[in-house]
Order: sequence, then structure tokens, then C-alpha cells
Amino acid sequence: MDFSGFFSERASSIDTSGIRRIFHLGAHMKDPINLSIGQPDFPVPDAIKRAAIDAINNDHNGYTLTQGIPELRAAISKHLMDDLGWDIDRGDASIAVTGGTSGALLCAALATLGPGDEAVIPDPYFVLYPSLPILCGARPVLCDTYPDFRMTAERVEPLITSKTKFVLVCSPSNPCGVVNSRQECEDLLDLCRRKNILLISDEIYDEFTFPEFHDIRAGRSQSPSPARFDGANEDVLVIRGFGKTYGCTGWRMGYVAGPTPLVDQIAKLQQYSFVCAPSIAQWGCVAAFGVDQTETVLRYQKRRDMVVGALREHTNVATPGGAFYVFPEIPPSLGITGRQFVERAIERNVLTIPGNVFSKRDTHVRLSYATDEAKLERGVEILCDLMQGN
Ligand SMILES: Cc1ncc(COP(=O)(O)O)c(C=O)c1O
Repeated sequence: MDFSGFFSERASSIDTSGIRRIFHLGAHMKDPINLSIGQPDFPVPDAIKRAAIDAINNDHNGYTLTQGIPELRAAISKHLMDDLGWDIDRGDASIAVTGGTSGALLCAALATLGPGDEAVIPDPYFVLYPSLPILCGARPVLCDTYPDFRMTAERVEPLITSKTKFVLVCSPSNPCGVVNSRQECEDLLDLCRRKNILLISDEIYDEFTFPEFHDIRAGRSQSPSPARFDGANEDVLVIRGFGKTYGCTGWRMGYVAGPTPLVDQIAKLQQYSFVCAPSIAQWGCVAAFGVDQTETVLRYQKRRDMVVGALREHTNVATPGGAFYVFPEIPPSLGITGRQFVERAIERNVLTIPGNVFSKRDTHVRLSYATDEAKLERGVEILCDLMQGN
């Protein structure tokens, strides 16, 4: 069959060539120092593994309710009560377990956007973000957050028009690791309320927020979130996941929590697409909230300190408060783009991702420190050497 001109504008307008080219270049490297990986380097905690294995042994292999198995919904409800003060049983908000955080983002976009609509997303962005409005026939409006990567209400407000349906904020962020302050969360929520638009908060890395960036209230210490303000259950869609926190990205587990009419639409769209999140993984994740990842997070914080400390000697780096990424600038004195820098690093056997995979600009590079300390140290040494023009 001749496929020229055959595919939909939707499919044709999505370009994955940037990241594919880097992985293609990386495929020829022998035992590279790979700082490109967006997933944790620790095994799934035993309690979660055991719960998934038990599910297989107990023949939990069928379809589940689209919104998720009652046991996991109960565990999420309890967690949201503790974390956000949302009482799901009382009807403050609704929840749905989704096929990954990506599934949640896609169904949320499909539920809200149509031709002519706009969605405000950060730049730099997680690679999926600009595609979400495009897949719905809508338009992504990029909020330039350089050089500190803070998506503030002040930066977002001028971008809002009568066509804006939602603002999507991500904290801790991919690719920068930047964490919003409590004040920034509140200002964004106030802005969205004033303009009567939805605030979507992608909190996939919420458990990976370093304690120094926590919001400390009433003796509790958590990642700052716009969902924690009075009445936010009526105005904010929270999107979270299990993959990053518990090292099970391939299990495809996420969830949404927010206003019931919106979650109902998301669940309906999931029913006719993903159907349900994987059953075995749902049973495994019932055990997740009982697992304490503090030690792991503190280990990642030490890596962050090492990486940022070294890079800062040679370039500008916004301090990441969570996740496992750093997004340093390529020193302008080198006179090269992010892509050219990545190509130089590949010649020295280090794999990173150029800024233009995550941004309209190509002035930075993304490093992931989800890799063992010895390799990481060696990789950062090489990158620092390159930043000095060597
Ligand atoms: C900010 C952000 N949101 C969502 C996702 C998608 O996560 P999932 O694997 O749960 O679909 C990622 C994955 O890298 C991410 O970085």
C-alpha cells in the first residue's frame, strides 16, 4: 500500500524524531555512561512485588472496573485524605486508576479539548505535553519559564485567552526537577479560578521531592501542591503515578483525582480506549502506600548535590528540588547548541538528551541521575570537561 498522504494530520503533526535520533546514536555506543534514562534505578519494593505475584497466583487476570479495583481505590482514597485532606467517600472529589500517568493525561486532554481550544503548558515540557492538545485538534500554548524554570502565575496570565481550557503545571518537573513553592501553587490556583479555567497538576514525582523543598503545615511535610488549598477539590485535577516512586514504570499505573464531573468523563474515555489499568499491577500497587521510600529519596538527593555541585563550577543550573533530572545550560561561550553538545558527549561515551527535545530552545541538556553513583560521577566529570571546551 502507498502510505504517502495517507495518515491523519493528527499523527503526522507529532514529531518524535529528536529523541529517536539520540537513541539511535546511543544504540551504537558500547557500554555508555547513560544519563538519558527517565526511570529509577532501584528494584520494585518486595511488598509490592509480592502483592503482584499473589494476584497472579490468585487468578486476578480479568478486566477490572474502569475506575480501578475497590482495594486500590480505597488505598488511594486514604492516601488523599492524609495528603490533601480530600474525603473521597464524602464526595469531595472522585478518583480513577489509569493506564499510567500518560493515560491520565491523554484522557484528561480528550475530555476537555476540542478544535480551536488552547492549553497552556510549560516550556521546557515533558515530551508528551505539546502533543496532548494537538491530538485533540487544539493548540498548545507554551509558557516560557527560562532561565529559572518557574511556571508562575505572572508568566501564565498573559497567555490566557477566551479559548484556554486548562493550565498544566508539573512539579517536581521533568526535565528540570524544579519544585514550585507553596505560594506559586496558590497564585496559579487563584489565577485559574479568576479566569474560570481548569488547573491540571502533574504530580508524578511528588514522592520524589527533597525535604528542603517540602511544604510544612500542621506538622506534615509534603511536596507543595495547588490541590492542598481550601476548595481545590472543585478546581484542580491531580494526576499522579506509581511508576517513578516505586520503580515500576512498565506496569503502567497512574491515577486522577478531582471534580467528579471531570473524572467521570476521563473514566468514560478510558473505558473506550485503555479499558482499565493492568489488573496485576493494580493489585501490586495496593501495597504501595505502605512502602516508605524516604531512604531512596535521600540517596537521590545526595546524587543531586554531587551533580549540581560539579556542574555549577562551569555553568548555570537551576537547583532541582525533586525528580531525578538536572537541566544545565550549555555555556554560551562554547557557541554550540544542546544537540551539538550531546553529540560531543556521545564521542566521549556519555549519553544525555538535548534541550530541544523538551523545548523550543536548544540551549540546555537534560541529565538523569537515576544511575549508579560511580558511573554518574565519571559522566559528570566528562560533561564538566566538555563544558570547559575540552
Ligand atoms: C512529568 C511526567 N508526567 C508523566 C509521565 C508519564 O508517566 P507514566 O510512565 O506513568 O505514563 C512522565 C514520564 O516520564 C513524566 O516525566
